[in-house]
Amino acid sequence: MHDFKYKKNKFYCENIKVEDLAKRFKTPLYVYSYHTLTDHYLKLKAAFAGINPLICYSVKANSNLSILKALIAKGAGLDIVSGGELFRAQKAGCPAQKIVYASVGKTDQEISAAINKGILFFNVESLAELKNINRIAKALNKVTRVAIRINPDVEAKTHKYISTGKITNKFGIDLESAYKILLLRNNFKNLRICGLHIHIGSQITQSEPFVEAIKKVSNFIRRLKDKGIELEYLNIGGGLGIIYDREDPQTAQIYADQIVPLLQKTGLKIIMEPGRFIIGNAGILVVKVLYIKKTPKKKFIIIDGGMNDLIRPALYSAYHNIWPLAKISATEKADVVGPICESGDFLAKERLIAKVKEGDYLAVMSAGAYGFSMSSNYNSRPRAAEVMVFKNKAVVIRKRETAQDLIHNEIIAGNFIKG
Ligand code: LLP
Repeated sequence: MHDFKYKKNKFYCENIKVEDLAKRFKTPLYVYSYHTLTDHYLKLKAAFAGINPLICYSVKANSNLSILKALIAKGAGLDIVSGGELFRAQKAGCPAQKIVYASVGKTDQEISAAINKGILFFNVESLAELKNINRIAKALNKVTRVAIRINPDVEAKTHKYISTGKITNKFGIDLESAYKILLLRNNFKNLRICGLHIHIGSQITQSEPFVEAIKKVSNFIRRLKDKGIELEYLNIGGGLGIIYDREDPQTAQIYADQIVPLLQKTGLKIIMEPGRFIIGNAGILVVKVLYIKKTPKKKFIIIDGGMNDLIRPALYSAYHNIWPLAKISATEKADVVGPICESGDFLAKERLIAKVKEGDYLAVMSAGAYGFSMSSNYNSRPRAAEVMVFKNKAVVIRKRETAQDLIHNEIIAGNFIKG
């Protein structure tokens, strides 16, 4: 469910006509619904009320400070993957004890910063990283908490680029290696290994892969208990799929019904790291039709937003619905393409779409997650503005970049370039 819909043939976000936003703030423009965003978080919280997990929103999905702040205000923690995300988490006012930190490639600097801030724990992805965190914690004269990220070797049934729980993926530690590490836990004097972490992939629409992974980890937890190894946390990651097209994903309640009994049996405190489920359908990308181009074989709708604004179709062949802001009943088959100099720059291919004309606006749906956060300046295009809607109010939560922003960090090299 989301708060984007037609009322009398005009497309609205909550109580605001999106066309008014497009005219006022120009395009391409990301528009988020505060109500949808917080509602998704609260739905997940309610479904899991029985075990009261710490829900650490996955910052990478959309790291805008206002979005982080809105979720933190509702009680969310944050899942981060870099020093930059740690900085954002602090700027948004997230208590350090609600931050968990994953990533296969944490640098010494990033590790020190997170230890000094006193985050809840690191999700550790290799033995080499574990040794490094121990070394840095020792140098800082601290004992820091870590969870071991397990690679449970399960098939997540999603796009291969966003599947992370197979043994051939770079993520996590296999069960046998993790077992050996845990037996030797006392060798890591400056670490407290307090939990396990799994994250098997993203946009997972059925519960079975989650159930399979949690069962594997639960057996592992029992095996550890038999050896006298007690843990405190189980972090079950994110990955809940949403509706882009015709998917029929599990609801938060169905997901909870399937896994809560398994989680309760572990006796551990539960952490989850949803990203897409919370912000995916809470955001759209609004674009304007620049030109209609007919070629002998095709019709192209050329818009002012491109793969630099939303890379998901180019990168994963992802499907996003595209609707006109003023309803049009006639349809036609066309490619919706951006201005970037690559044939991969499309938002839809061979799509039956509203018969738009130059100057019309379109809403690219379900663009809240991995939309702006994966956008770039490719082709020296300033990144889009972002607006948050709350009932009948709209506020800019990120200004549109300017041409000056593009060259902000550049320094023109000295005399030798003059030849
Ligand atoms: N936890 C960890 C350790 C993760 O790596 C991720 C996502 C999440 C949580 C959040 O997953 P979510 O609930 O959003 O599925 N750019 C891709 C998705 C990449 C996901 C990366 N990791 C896309 O646009 O589909």
